[in-house]
Amino acid sequence: MLLLALESSCDETAVAILSGEPGKPAEILASEIASQIELHRQYGGVVPEVASRNHSLHLRPLVEQALQHAGVSIRDIDAFAATSGPGLASSLLIGATAAKAMAAAAGKPFLAINHLEGHLLSPFVETGIVLPHLALIVSGGHTLLLDVAGPGRYSKLGGTRDDAAGEAFDKVAKMLGLPYPGGPEIERTAAGGNKQAFAFPRSMMKEPGFDFSFSGLKTAVLYTLSERNPDTGSARPEDLADLCASFQEAVIEVLVTKTLRAAKHAGRDLIALSGGVSLNKTLRAAFEVACRKEGIALATATPGLCTDNAAMIAFAALLRAFEGHASPLDADIDPNLPL
Ligand code: KG4
Ligand code: ZN
Repeated sequence: MLLLALESSCDETAVAILSGEPGKPAEILASEIASQIELHRQYGGVVPEVASRNHSLHLRPLVEQALQHAGVSIRDIDAFAATSGPGLASSLLIGATAAKAMAAAAGKPFLAINHLEGHLLSPFVETGIVLPHLALIVSGGHTLLLDVAGPGRYSKLGGTRDDAAGEAFDKVAKMLGLPYPGGPEIERTAAGGNKQAFAFPRSMMKEPGFDFSFSGLKTAVLYTLSERNPDTGSARPEDLADLCASFQEAVIEVLVTKTLRAAKHAGRDLIALSGGVSLNKTLRAAFEVACRKEGIALATATPGLCTDNAAMIAFAALLRAFEGHASPLDADIDPNLPL
């Protein structure tokens, strides 16, 4: 089966074409991304109207490019999919409407896919088989712990009560005067710092349950900045690397501790990490050490599948299509779509 998927939930316009058969590794024939990061950088975050206008500009040429890279014609595509939520309403509408139009014109099925399911399944694209596991999705918009019995069988164990982990990276980076998106910048700067230099809080780590909170940590960084530099409240250059390393360590320690606790609670011997923050090498290394100690296997997505992309949406759609699912052409988008 050949599937073409569109992803436009936030600031990346993405198109992918996947070929797959049930139980076999999916083959990514094309995975194109038109990033808007540079455009939004000047505003320090994503501006919804700018995002949707750029999706609309980029989508058609990106579809042509994907077909060309995959070496297939649009007439060969068996089903069309798009992210239907969660995300920015005006951005979601562009991708979903385009995918529906292509499906209607070709007389082929349309599949509306949850962006979070795309992230969740991304570590399994290469094997094609989704094993039972404990999933941690850590992205700019979400921090979620889920028990996964199999495709479509998800139960939420916990999530963030305020900021997502990636959002905390982005907001703290902004406070420190680092550019957007903050995650990679903090990781890079932290490499030369001492992670024990500042004792930032590990919120909710000792409490029962599997929820997270990162807003207290953000505030702690803010207080530290004004203590260290009362005149301006901005980071002193000599503190920057230590601040980044200490902040990053606080986020990682909470994520690792709670995820391992959740895996034990759910009786799972496999943990899968997905989402943009799972690109962080220090985070991956901390999970590897902790999982090895507990005899738990670890699955991560390849780097290209961690941040927003359409291949993960196509893979989620493939699994649904194998089961004969299709969405109606009047299916709505939902900015707050839960998993
Ligand atoms: O999954 P993603 O591309 O988009 C959402 O669905 O939100 O994740 C983007 C987030 C941003 O907050 C970005 O700062 C963070 O992932 N991120 C990182 C790293 N690379 C991206 N956070 C920490 N370390 C990184 N290396
Ligand atoms: Zn995402």
